[in-house]
Amino acid sequence: MTYSVVDVRNVDKVYGKKNENKYRALQDISFSIHEGEFIGIMGASGSGKTTLLNVISTLDKVTQGDIEIAGTNITAMNQDALAEFRAQKLGFIFQDFNLLESMTVYENIALPLFLQNITGKKGKERVEEVADILDIKNILDKYPAIISGGQKQRTAAARALVHNPNIILADEPTGALDSNNAASLLETLKQLNEDHNVSIMMVTHDALSASYCQRILFLEDGDLYKEVQRTGTREEFFKEILDELAEAGKKKL
Ligand SMILES: Nc1ncnc2c1ncn2[C@@H]1O[C@H](COP(=O)(O)OP(=O)(O)OP(=O)(O)O)[C@@H](O)[C@H]1O
Ligand SMILES: [Mg+2]
Repeated sequence: MTYSVVDVRNVDKVYGKKNENKYRALQDISFSIHEGEFIGIMGASGSGKTTLLNVISTLDKVTQGDIEIAGTNITAMNQDALAEFRAQKLGFIFQDFNLLESMTVYENIALPLFLQNITGKKGKERVEEVADILDIKNILDKYPAIISGGQKQRTAAARALVHNPNIILADEPTGALDSNNAASLLETLKQLNEDHNVSIMMVTHDALSASYCQRILFLEDGDLYKEVQRTGTREEFFKEILDELAEAGKKKL
């Protein structure tokens, strides 16, 4: 029996209030993310990827439909409840990592715990545990300015993971990275997923990044028109994704 961490049911997102400004960025979207799944969202620019991520991450409201995360329906919650829910249940990895420069690596990682009043010995043990998983135990007292790009990524991943969120959400996490750093971040996410059963949803327009996922959902003009499940090797999945993108490109011509 697999449980879903996220259930999206018949979700619509319409931007703009006046008729002539209305834009339906998500159209009757339904899918589930299983516990321990590494899922990717792909689609052309403007297809609705960030919009979908934002409504799941509670940063934006749906216009219609329901989203359940870890058994809680978030669509009816007020702003305060959402902020608390977000702090407890969700982990985020941003494109530019958003590390706070005036804080050490340790303090950056501890931030989500601090927001939940988990400090002292318990907090310290947890920070050290995730720092160990991500191999950054030796840089905990350093500031972001003097650590490498790869160490920054792993710090951001540690911060996303430290409070044991139900799911980690990442919007184009490799978007600003060179290919070596991109590959190492993706390996890190894969490791968290495979060895620690962390559920991850990643938005990307890059087929190579997407090939690290177990399943890809394809969006076009706000419509979830296809999903592809990885069955063979990553290299085979990569080719399948490229083929799918080529098909989608042809339809547009
Ligand atoms: N705040 C907003 N108000 C009005 N329209 C918006 C708003 N945000 C996004 N849109 C529109 O909704 C559509 C989907 O945007 P979204 O940012 O989700 O695309 P995306 O797939 O993430 O694209 P990209 O790959 O370029 O990041 C676009 O047509 C965009 O112009
Ligand atoms: Mg986007």
